[in-house]
Amino acid sequence: MIAALALAAALAVAPAAAADCTVETGAFTWGFKESFRAYISGSIANGEWTTEGAIDYATPAFFSEQLGGEVMLAPFAGELAVEGAMRFTGHDGILDTTIANPRLVIESPDRVVIIVDIRGTTQDFVPIDSTAVPFVTGDPGLAQWSVEGSTLRIDGIPLTLTAEGAEAFGTYPAGEAFDAITLELDTTAACAEAAIAARTSAGSAPVLLIVGAVLLAVVGSIVVHLVLRARRRSRPPTEAASAVP
Ligand code: HEM
Repeated sequence: MIAALALAAALAVAPAAAADCTVETGAFTWGFKESFRAYISGSIANGEWTTEGAIDYATPAFFSEQLGGEVMLAPFAGELAVEGAMRFTGHDGILDTTIANPRLVIESPDRVVIIVDIRGTTQDFVPIDSTAVPFVTGDPGLAQWSVEGSTLRIDGIPLTLTAEGAEAFGTYPAGEAFDAITLELDTTAACAEAAIAARTSAGSAPVLLIVGAVLLAVVGSIVVHLVLRARRRSRPPTEAASAVP
């Protein structure tokens, strides 16, 4: 009985199916930073943005349907990347910043880092040409996860600027909120469901472990009590007891 309970607790915290699920292609939709776009397209910078390679723009966000790499769904980890760029220009070409080749590195279920190459200048006209800058980070756990056909949709991962990103971009401070990113990961409906289940059970794992431990303790003490009682009953009567008339 104890073994059965332990097995049930273990199964509850580790759905087996999701562990076999990987993703090799996907899409992202990302507005980058709404206030920056408003500044660029407004009357101050009087500029525009263009895209290159496998990145496109459809108001109000940049997107690519050509993410490639490898991501495990449980535990959620891996990397997807695309070759392409977002180029922002303004002030008659004085502002000219290109954010290129985004790599989405899922370090753990609660941390994704977007690494980019940055070319241009800071707001103070210091030239920048940096590759592989860990630009923004976010927690996928804070996004809305859903299944759409054979796609796992992770809608709205909130992102903030890293210290390295702040230094390279040269205007906003570290911790500044950038637009949330939405990911669509190509998989199967079963894998997408399993990933969502694994995410839910990962969050409740500590609770399940505590419940399992309490159950084991209760069942264990009942078993010990029953064994002791059975032994007492089968013992021969003591001398004192047999001396009583
Ligand atoms: C002729 C040169 C420039 C002028 C006159 C200028 C002027 C301004 C002004 C007036 C603002 C405030 C806008 C507002 O509060 O709505 C601003 C914001 C900003 N500028 Fe420039 N700027 C120049 C060059 C640059 C360059 C080279 C960069 C490099 C990326 C840059 C990046 C920014 C950013 C990121 C903001 C904040 C936008 C936001 O999120 O609100 N600027 N600039």
